[in-house]
Amino acid sequence: MLTLGSLELTSNLLLSPIAGYCDLAFRLVVRPLGGLGLACTDLVNPRGVLRRTGASMALVRTESDDKPLCVQFYGANPAEMIDAARYCRDHGADVIDINMGCPVAKICTRGGGAAMLSDPANAVRLVEAVVQAVDLPVTAKLRLGLDDSTIVAPQLAADLERAGVAAVTVHGRTAADRFGGKVRLDGIARVVGAVRSIPVIGNGDVRSPADVKRMIDATGCAGVMIGRAALSDPWIFRDSHTYLTTGSLPPPPTVCERLDLIVRHFEQLRRLKNERVACAIMRQRFSWYAARLQPPPGWRHQMRGVRSANEFYQLMREYPASEKGDRNAG
Ligand SMILES: Cc1cc2nc3c(=O)[nH]c(=O)nc-3n(C[C@H](O)[C@H](O)[C@H](O)COP(=O)(O)O)c2cc1C
Repeated sequence: MLTLGSLELTSNLLLSPIAGYCDLAFRLVVRPLGGLGLACTDLVNPRGVLRRTGASMALVRTESDDKPLCVQFYGANPAEMIDAARYCRDHGADVIDINMGCPVAKICTRGGGAAMLSDPANAVRLVEAVVQAVDLPVTAKLRLGLDDSTIVAPQLAADLERAGVAAVTVHGRTAADRFGGKVRLDGIARVVGAVRSIPVIGNGDVRSPADVKRMIDATGCAGVMIGRAALSDPWIFRDSHTYLTTGSLPPPPTVCERLDLIVRHFEQLRRLKNERVACAIMRQRFSWYAARLQPPPGWRHQMRGVRSANEFYQLMREYPASEKGDRNAG
């Protein structure tokens, strides 16, 4: 399977960090479905961890069922990153990832995220300092470069390997691409070709088990990281793992199974946050689930306005029986 330093993963499929989405509640819902080798927190400011701010503590919060866990940091200050990584190691983290791909101005103006691609030597120095100071596997998540005229990922990945990273993840776009156009599998393949032995994890636009296989076949990557598709279809890890290992697909989840998962997600949110926040998050998350569930329009509209746990459970009970049947939801 996939090994990050001394950590052996049970599958080569990883859950992407997606700021605001891949929190503890979601990770606890996805993991039991199977097929997921490693999940990552959303990007965290190490300074926030050192100051124990509420937002950063919520981001790095974990539990015994949330394993193995990668904590992703952004920033350019090695001392802060090392101290925050040590804190997270002592509080449940199994892997530390350094973000070198986020194109958002708030992150880049502090020298983190994709800004690191503009000064690869500095990025390597930062990573080397963290690798040497923290006894956990350290990985980096990059884009191909800042734009088409500065594709640095192959050389940077090779330099990061020499600096001691356990793996690199490559989103096959430049920072200038944002999320536009198609992911470039040839760009990921060039990174695979540039490193000696560390695993390269491909990322970008994977929406189905067939996409996972296509990315592996086209690039030679050792693993695949999936983000947005998992928000609509958390079974994508189970399905892709089965497809990669047996060549066939399990039956898709039924409508009842999809509804049960939404209930479990809501209950985790209520437990970890509170009823009001759980409703607010569900109103937003429901649009993602609806992409696969395809509920009747009236019901969908009501769920998007849900304000209390009573209302939520009432709506769940009212889901039209005719829609449940044995129908498998896409
Ligand atoms: C709303 C949003 C938030 C994201 N937040 C992060 C983040 O915190 N850290 C990170 O490395 N990538 C982040 N990403 C990028 C994803 O991890 C991933 O690289 C990208 O979405 C491509 O993969 P996908 O097509 O499977 O979603 C984010 C993407 C989106 C759409």
